Amino acid sequence: MIETMEELKKTCKECKKCRLCETRTNVVFGTGNENAEVLFIGEGPGENEDLQGEPFVGRGGKLLDKMLNAVDLDRKKNIYIANMVKCRPPKNRDPLPDEQEACIGYLRNQVKIIKPKIIVCLGRVSAIRIIKKDMKITKEHGIFFERNGVIMMATLHPAALLRDPRKKPEAFEDFQKLRDKIKEICTSTY
Ligand code: URA
Repeated sequence: MIETMEELKKTCKECKKCRLCETRTNVVFGTGNENAEVLFIGEGPGENEDLQGEPFVGRGGKLLDKMLNAVDLDRKKNIYIANMVKCRPPKNRDPLPDEQEACIGYLRNQVKIIKPKIIVCLGRVSAIRIIKKDMKITKEHGIFFERNGVIMMATLHPAALLRDPRKKPEAFEDFQKLRDKIKEICTSTY
């Protein structure tokens, strides 16, 4: 385990563990408060993220920020946002199992440094990998699970909400449940 986020970021930026290093512009390591009690985990960078080196900066990111702000969360202040894979899969395909495997250690190390009380998975791919293999995101989003003392929940991916805006109210409900849970178990987020 690498002890500091700075050092971990440096290692990650030089990573050549899988083929995604060949096509990336930037490694998208993650952003936010290293002492956050709430960690959001997406799938992997898209085109805008690859170009800017920041997670969730495209249209989906704008929507995510709106939902976060609605429950008094702010990527620059009281949460951390990371992805399961740190480099963009070509044409935004799902990250392949061997790419996930190569990258997951960095996320585990981030979790060890941040020590979040709550993890929110954004979308199916991270929910399956992080919460449970047979996660059914359409049915089980907004439900809290416990893994090794950490509370976990999945919500719909912002990109899925852009594709089908009728699902937005369901996602907003998840964020309201999240706010209630934060108020129940967190001490420094609000
Ligand atoms: N989708 C993700 O899952 N992560 C990002 O950073 C951007 C889009």
